[in-house]
Amino acid sequence: MPRDGYLSDLSGEQHALVDGFHELYYNSRYGNRTWGNTQWLGVRTLKCPLDLWLYQEILYERRPDLIVETGTAYGGSALYLASICDLIGSGAVVSIDIESRQEWPRHPRIAYVQGSSTAGPVVAEITRRAAACREVLVILDSDHRRDHVLAELRAYAPLVRAGGYLIVEDTIVNGHPVRADFGPGPYEAVEQFLREQPTWSVDRGMEKLLLSFNRNGYLRRNQ
Ligand SMILES: C[S@@+](CC[C@H](N)C(=O)[O-])C[C@H]1O[C@@H](n2cnc3c(N)ncnc32)[C@H](O)[C@@H]1O
Repeated sequence: MPRDGYLSDLSGEQHALVDGFHELYYNSRYGNRTWGNTQWLGVRTLKCPLDLWLYQEILYERRPDLIVETGTAYGGSALYLASICDLIGSGAVVSIDIESRQEWPRHPRIAYVQGSSTAGPVVAEITRRAAACREVLVILDSDHRRDHVLAELRAYAPLVRAGGYLIVEDTIVNGHPVRADFGPGPYEAVEQFLREQPTWSVDRGMEKLLLSFNRNGYLRRNQ
């Protein structure tokens, strides 16, 4: 992938520093891994907080009426999204997970769907919910293996309108620059998807905070 934008404006030494900090942060521990021990309003949220800030900027700018999240885990990211929707005054969240948890936070803006994000009935249900929406934001954060993410991209990208975003989480694994042992993952899925879909591109502006788990993963539909 081309390295234009904020990160490639850095010197080689600065870039190495940024990559090194990704490794330090990703692998740091406070009990559990720090990113696995981060909470929104008391609910575990498996995110880098700087990415949540970028989410907030996208939500404020685009004001999606539907946010589709694959991968609920403890429900912290769904609750965060719903909280920002409360502040903005619009939007609903549908969060999909293959597992169901009793402790998922209840919130009037959140609906949970249980099943695999790539299963036909689940994709059909989400497509039905998105049909009447003016703006849809999609966040892919379930099974991070390449083929699954690519299948999600193919299933859910058509729901996003021109100018809208699809966020692929955890593109930094498989050595980009963390978890070199991971194997083909979200980064490789994005590479393939962009080869197939020239109307989509990476929003380099989302590199501005330098630390992100979703480097190359903030995708924007151009038309
Ligand atoms: C990285 S966690 C999600 C983190 C959550 N979005 C957050 O930020 O707090 C991944 C979740 O994806 C779920 N998952 C794994 N494979 C899945 C699939 N095929 N479809 C839907 N969810 C899946 C797992 O059960 C797990 O809860």
